[in-house]
Amino acid sequence: MNVAIIGTGYVGLTTGVCLAYIGHSVLCLDTDLSKIEALQAGKIPIYEPHLEDLLAEAQRNLRFTTSYSEAIPDADVVFIAVGTPPTASGSPNLEYLSQAAQSIGEHLAGEFTVIVNKSTVPIGSGNWVGAIVRRALEQRQGRKANGAFGIASNPEFLREGVAIGDSLYPDRIVIGSDEERALEILYTLYRPVLDQTFPAPVFVPRPEDKGAVPLVSTDLASAELIKYAANAFLALKISFINEIGQLAERVGADIREVARGIGLDSRIGSRFLSAGIGWGGSCFGKDTAALVATASEYGLKMPIVEAAREVNCRQRDHVIEKLLQELKILKGRTIALLGLAFKPNTDDLRESPAVEIAQKLMVRGARVKAHDPIAMDRFQREHCHLGVELCPTVEATVEECDAVVLVTEWTEYREVDWEALAPAMRSPVILDGRLILDGDKLSRAGFRYIGIN
Ligand code: UDX
Repeated sequence: MNVAIIGTGYVGLTTGVCLAYIGHSVLCLDTDLSKIEALQAGKIPIYEPHLEDLLAEAQRNLRFTTSYSEAIPDADVVFIAVGTPPTASGSPNLEYLSQAAQSIGEHLAGEFTVIVNKSTVPIGSGNWVGAIVRRALEQRQGRKANGAFGIASNPEFLREGVAIGDSLYPDRIVIGSDEERALEILYTLYRPVLDQTFPAPVFVPRPEDKGAVPLVSTDLASAELIKYAANAFLALKISFINEIGQLAERVGADIREVARGIGLDSRIGSRFLSAGIGWGGSCFGKDTAALVATASEYGLKMPIVEAAREVNCRQRDHVIEKLLQELKILKGRTIALLGLAFKPNTDDLRESPAVEIAQKLMVRGARVKAHDPIAMDRFQREHCHLGVELCPTVEATVEECDAVVLVTEWTEYREVDWEALAPAMRSPVILDGRLILDGDKLSRAGFRYIGIN
């Protein structure tokens, strides 16, 4: 099938590369010429493990362009995967989405094209996008645009850092449309993934127990709501364990044991129960805010989702409170942050806990040093105004510091030889924001080990 993808961010690029890999002819469009030139040269503008390898393998089916007139007329399916960044009110900015819809309408020429919302868009956006496309198409043609296109929603569930695995071996695929023909085309498009008939790439092997992928084929509004409900549920699962973590600390329980004990109940499940500093990233914060904003348009309150957001903010404050308890005064202290990305295996800093914690520390007069295996260049570009001192190694970061805060659970931080580093620190205090270190071992080595819960 001929596929056009509008937007080459995490979602658009991963989707485009994966669809090309399974055999479709894909044209990725972005209005940013420098991005397209880099991609044409085989370079990925984001850090995502194995995306560049897969792009090399899928190259013969993959092209990149800035031109709508090249991308749209021959496409059977057009994915809209442009950014929908949050606004101050919590509702997403739909400017890029509306521009994309307008340009698609201006260039549609096929007999029937499916236009798919892949970006996380507010519920009802399918209809809205359809109206923009129709108006632009009718203006160009000077006649009614009946039957020229169908609108669908195909929410994306990929996680950064493991985006290829999540796309090739998903738990489920959700497609939603009010037109049967659009659903049939999307079913055909995803058939190799649903049936798992494509050869697995060697660098991201197929999980051994991977069977056929369930398909949820539904109406437009349900597909749109599934995306928000899934992200909100995951976010509140994390906030729930963090809330229980606060109580665990008071009663002397170990939250890791509690999480294990409840997670083994198959009705609950053990994933997304890791307590710690809380969630960041481009989705959970934005989507929970948008869900609350959409509900309020209908006069509805979402107290559970709001509470999940509140608990998540509290986790950040908790870091500062713990440091204050330990060090009494933060003014003039040096605090080392290990990890800047919002999670390991990405350089994404959107809503990263590290950024917020650094800001809170600096407001209180602390000096902040930081390290990240991948995200330092990006931090330098996007947050240099904060005044955080970036250090090339863990050793240099912890030197002369009054406390270390482990913010992101990169593998290399699990393997640090803390005993060897202790003499370089002003005081051997470790605040483990992800509960991944061996507290007993660190205590025996003379550290003051503090867990986040
Ligand atoms: C999320 C969803 O998982 C994905 O389905 C959706 O498409 C996009 O949003 P992503 O933001 O890439 O994916 O990362 P995810 O692995 O979900 O982690 C989000 C945040 O939650 C991270 O900051 C992570 O550190 C935190 N987290 C995750 C926890 O604090 N505890 C956990 O148990 C799991």
